[in-house]
Amino acid sequence: MLKLPSSPSIVKKNQILYTKHLNNCNYRSTMNLDTYLKEKRKSVDTFLKDYIASKKRDKDCPRKLTEVMEYALMAGGKRVRPVLCIASYEAAGGTSSCILPIATSLELIHTYSLIHDDLPAMDDDDFRRGKPTAHKVYGEAMAILAGDALLTDAFKMVCEAETAPATAVRVLKELSHASGPCGMVGGQAVDIMLEGKKAGKKDVHYIHTHKTGALIRGAVRMGALMAKANPVKLSALTEYGEKMGLAFQIIDDVLDITGTQEELGKTAGADIEKGKNTYPSVYGLEKSQKLAETLLQESMDAIQVLKKKAEPLNAIANYILSRRN
Ligand code: IPE
Ligand code: IPE
Ligand code: MG
Ligand code: MG
Ligand code: MG
Repeated sequence: MLKLPSSPSIVKKNQILYTKHLNNCNYRSTMNLDTYLKEKRKSVDTFLKDYIASKKRDKDCPRKLTEVMEYALMAGGKRVRPVLCIASYEAAGGTSSCILPIATSLELIHTYSLIHDDLPAMDDDDFRRGKPTAHKVYGEAMAILAGDALLTDAFKMVCEAETAPATAVRVLKELSHASGPCGMVGGQAVDIMLEGKKAGKKDVHYIHTHKTGALIRGAVRMGALMAKANPVKLSALTEYGEKMGLAFQIIDDVLDITGTQEELGKTAGADIEKGKNTYPSVYGLEKSQKLAETLLQESMDAIQVLKKKAEPLNAIANYILSRRN
């Protein structure tokens, strides 16, 4: 496996921008992001544990299948999509815990996408979330099926949420669009089709806004829809989600080069080895970092209309940029 050096200048830059944003009066944060993230992640993890417990109780659900689902789900992901969904819901005025199944459904979809992304037929990765990948432990067939199971149950989870049927339908449509062939799966398909071939700026933009951007945009919009956000707020949050989603994947690409396996919990340097089309492969490392910074600044600008309620979303944008995993 190719070993790439980490880039201290990029790391330092992240820290500088983080501090800059926190000191900027528009985005001054009086909140404690660590506490906020911890609290929201805990709610999502509790919901996930209850979900797995319900599968274990259901005699129609094969034990082994539940085991693989639990292995992948509970391996310690950052829960970025559910937290974004909750933060967007609250930013749009939502206050009820009925957002939890909606937010958690995104983690089911995301985890399924990771199980499939790591398969030998796709990125062929051996490590995920600091552990051997699901197919390494349980075999390819069971990994594929666990992914299928999580994907399907995500929609059931939304259906079981306590919400007006009309709202549930809007949320289901959003989730299907974000994760389907014109969203995440479309992005994954082009990522695979262009592997080892030289892609241009337009291709890599399509790949990133779809394979990763679509679900993050969807997460933010699902929160807004659940809070019945008015058109102005919905459009501001949509722009935030779009910019954040693209930036998230650019940072993922940058970290693949500058991070270590220990930090990332997945194999570092894998993109170059596989001939993946990434922002660094098209724009170079420094320019990619700059583009991500600009996108995250723009994502924060887009939600200024939400005033103080935008604070957690601003803090999350800063966190996305400064993250090391
Ligand atoms: C990794 O997503 C795959 C991408 C879409 C970039 P995350 O970085 O959110 O992974 P986890 O959920 O924290 O493991
Ligand atoms: C994965 O992108 C996107 C999805 C899983 C939808 P990557 O292939 O870059 O993600 P990592 O680097 O394996 O986490
Ligand atoms: Mg991939
Ligand atoms: Mg991958
Ligand atoms: Mg990656």
